[in-house]
Amino acid sequence: DNKGLKDYYAGYFPMGVAVSPQVLKGPEAELIRKHFNSLTAENAMKMGPIHPEEGRYNWAPADAIVNFAQENGMRMRGHTLCWHNQTPDWLFVDKDGKTVSKEVLLQRLKAHITEVVTRYKGKIYAWDVVNEVIDDNDSKFYRDSKWYSICGEDFIAKAFQYAHEADPDALLFYNDYNTESPGKRDRIHQMVTALIDKGVPIHGIGLQGHWSIYEPSERELRFSIDKFAALGLKVQITELDVSVYPLEHSRREPRPDEPNKFTPEMEQKQITQYGMIFRVLRNYKDSVTGVTFWNVSDKHSWLDSFPVRDRKNYPLLFDQNLQPKKAYWKVVKF
Ligand code: XIL
Repeated sequence: DNKGLKDYYAGYFPMGVAVSPQVLKGPEAELIRKHFNSLTAENAMKMGPIHPEEGRYNWAPADAIVNFAQENGMRMRGHTLCWHNQTPDWLFVDKDGKTVSKEVLLQRLKAHITEVVTRYKGKIYAWDVVNEVIDDNDSKFYRDSKWYSICGEDFIAKAFQYAHEADPDALLFYNDYNTESPGKRDRIHQMVTALIDKGVPIHGIGLQGHWSIYEPSERELRFSIDKFAALGLKVQITELDVSVYPLEHSRREPRPDEPNKFTPEMEQKQITQYGMIFRVLRNYKDSVTGVTFWNVSDKHSWLDSFPVRDRKNYPLLFDQNLQPKKAYWKVVKF
């Protein structure tokens, strides 16, 4: 079959994948060209990797990905400008190792966002501006982070403003996971509503889509898309994978009953879950403007070492030999 995912979904939304520069030079490159028309940098554009010292930028890995996208006529999503993880060591401290003031931190955020967004202006159509600032716990609102403890909530609106000033044409997203859990969904909705009311330039919500063969339910998935689309925002699934283990965000150890193999039962459940997800997304094609998978194939997924190490996962549509799985055929034959 000469058609790829992107061809089957041409009438719906772009199909994307998160990549490293290495994967674009490996055996995956051909598969990526065939199936995808959008790319995200898995790590290369995060603040730590791209801005390792104040004022010094490591552009080469990010450029390699942007160039691949351009050469192959693909769209490019930017990920991510402000996050609590993968931040550079210098960011929150001054030369003496003392925590910086809010003013200094916001200045640094502005310099960073301006530099990165300007470099890729016209080449990146959508940015995950702020990532994962809402807490998972229903008794809290914002996540505890250096950003939050130094600036309070102000850094969130500022990040969107800085990005918009640097590229007024880019679509700006708030991105998070666990967005089908009712409490977190409400908190995200509340924060985003407040941003919109203040006139902050925000255009979309990224549902990361780190899902599993057990969750979310169709009902919760539809509910999340409805709720965010009702704000007039575009919805994109930005980091899709379907873990063969239940989602337990705080887990740190493998469980003894986990087989580490892709069992027929997992396979069957995964086919059903992928089928449900894409049926729903096709249904919402006016609101859902992009879907991006987080990694290419089961040969390597970030879930192989998260949330626990030494537990193989099989969350994607292509197997360890880069061949389409049964779930792939379920997704494309509709
Ligand atoms: C992950 C990458 O896939 C890993 O390679 C890296 O070690 C950690 O970050 N949510 C996000 C992504 O927004 O940036 C994360 O990517 C996965 C969870």
